[in-house]
Amino acid sequence: MDFALTEEQRLIQQTARQFADEVIAPRARELDATATAPTEFFPQLAELGFMGIIIPEAYGGSGLSNLEQVLIMEELHRACASTGVTVSVHNSLVAGPIVKFGTEEQKRRYLPRMARAELIGAYCLSEPDYGSDAAGLRCQARFEGDHWVLDGTKAWITNGEIADLFIVFATEDPARRTRGISAFLVERDSPGLEVAKKEDKLGIRASCTNMVHLENVRVPADNLLGERGRGFTIAMDTLDGGRIGIATQAVGIAQACLDRSVKYARERKQFGTEIANFQAIQWKLADMATEIEAARLLTYQAAVLRDEGKPMGAKASMAKLFASETANRAAREAVQIHGGWGYVAEFDVERHYRDAKITEIYEGTSEIQRIVISRALLR
Ligand code: CAA
Repeated sequence: MDFALTEEQRLIQQTARQFADEVIAPRARELDATATAPTEFFPQLAELGFMGIIIPEAYGGSGLSNLEQVLIMEELHRACASTGVTVSVHNSLVAGPIVKFGTEEQKRRYLPRMARAELIGAYCLSEPDYGSDAAGLRCQARFEGDHWVLDGTKAWITNGEIADLFIVFATEDPARRTRGISAFLVERDSPGLEVAKKEDKLGIRASCTNMVHLENVRVPADNLLGERGRGFTIAMDTLDGGRIGIATQAVGIAQACLDRSVKYARERKQFGTEIANFQAIQWKLADMATEIEAARLLTYQAAVLRDEGKPMGAKASMAKLFASETANRAAREAVQIHGGWGYVAEFDVERHYRDAKITEIYEGTSEIQRIVISRALLR
């Protein structure tokens, strides 16, 4: 759908591309090697309006659409998937639901600071024993007069270490499953909230992923996000948007694999000629390019439907499913095209190969996406 973008959208894309190429890409390998959170980019990202992409202008954001968010985020992910997911979770999984479900007071309190990158967001749904079965979560919520008390452990929390604001999903009664869950806005300095173990991951190593413990954490009644007992719906609706974000990450990684493979194939000589002259390489490039275009179109489609307020959960799942599998195939072929050089950290495809895997796992595994898609077909 590149062909259908407006002049302004192309300009937004071009701005993101230039920043990603000039500022983020040169730092990506080092951040990955040292597992350093990409906080150094926050001031410039905020300046560009990329820390509040879909936050309305009235709350200090850029007031852009989901499609425009995809255009920006693909460029960031192409340069560095760790930086990309750090920014994506902040925008899609935290600012997004505050914009959609927050009270006027909550919006005024949090959104302007999020857009300025003074507050970084994290989304706390998963737990050590409840990942795919999100409705089974055990983190407990008790209402005590004028405040809530939260107790439990959240796992796989992207941005945990650097976050200032956590959306925490907790239940008043696990037996009520989806109907017992509410969503809470929990500030970092709340007594009893502890950001614990940082995970040592295969890929997206510069994105921090932590356990978060909550022990008798008092949350003011005003910090309930949305209605009491409707937290699961908020979690799922937010993930519909988040899955567009991960599809975008996958497209960005896949495009980086293709770009590097085309360049390498033109330079690398074997048997007296550039390897680009071999049909075995040409066909790999052709397949990669075709799948990436298809994945990008699915992702744009889901974003446009979300902008139009139309049902798009299954479309977001299709985009994430196809794009994440595309990224993994593209990364595998990119390493193959680079041969031994693709297997060492000196060449970025090694990082892309490690980064690609997570897109098939987080914000709903490929198996969960197939459940969402097939339920939409069969209901
Ligand atoms: N939008 C709004 N509401 C929705 C919805 C959606 N997309 N999907 C479901 N709901 C509502 C349903 O309408 C239903 O509401 P009622 O009870 O009022 O009828 C309710 O939610 C329950 O829905 P289901 O019966 O479908 O619930 P389920 O228990 O069968 O679960 C599931 C469905 C698809 C398996 C879901 O649990 C799921 O998506 N699991 C995966 C969780 C996940 O993606 N986790 C990612 C963690 S976050 C992360 O990775 C972030 C990060 O840091 C990068």
